[in-house]
Amino acid sequence: MIYPIVKYPDPVLAQKAEPIVVFDRELAKLADDMFASMYAAEGIGLAAPQIGVLKRITVIDTSFGKDANEKLVLINPEIVASDGRRSEEEGCLSLPEIRDKVLRHATVTVRAQDVHGDWFEVDGEDLLSRAMQHEMDHLDGVLFIDRLSRLKKDLTIRRIKKLIKNGEW
Ligand code: NI
Repeated sequence: MIYPIVKYPDPVLAQKAEPIVVFDRELAKLADDMFASMYAAEGIGLAAPQIGVLKRITVIDTSFGKDANEKLVLINPEIVASDGRRSEEEGCLSLPEIRDKVLRHATVTVRAQDVHGDWFEVDGEDLLSRAMQHEMDHLDGVLFIDRLSRLKKDLTIRRIKKLIKNGEW
């Protein structure tokens, strides 16, 4: 099933998602559906709150469907190590057309559970590092525009309000 992507300013995007405690077929199906929804929307990452589900699961594929080995499901993820700082341009399926430079850790090590509930660790640099941090933010109700300067965030929200008013959002 392909879910529609929830867009800003839907309040579900600002809420903290709940930990996942049951690892059953339904959860595996949710992960599959999230990949399908992400590919349909032409994204490289998707967090459950973006389809209106307040659970701590995200899917990422920085190869965008070209390499099945790159498919990553992070359940109840946490950053266990990080290094450096880097500012790069980001976008978000919940904020179409909006792009801006966001300062994040350059590299991260993330600990997470897979769909069977087994814990694993993944090291990320470059795009994978950024994608994991961006998607994990969604699980805490944080969008990338929340990480911009106050001025930039205000300008971006004003721009979105205008798009909404013109029926272009
Ligand atoms: Ni996003």
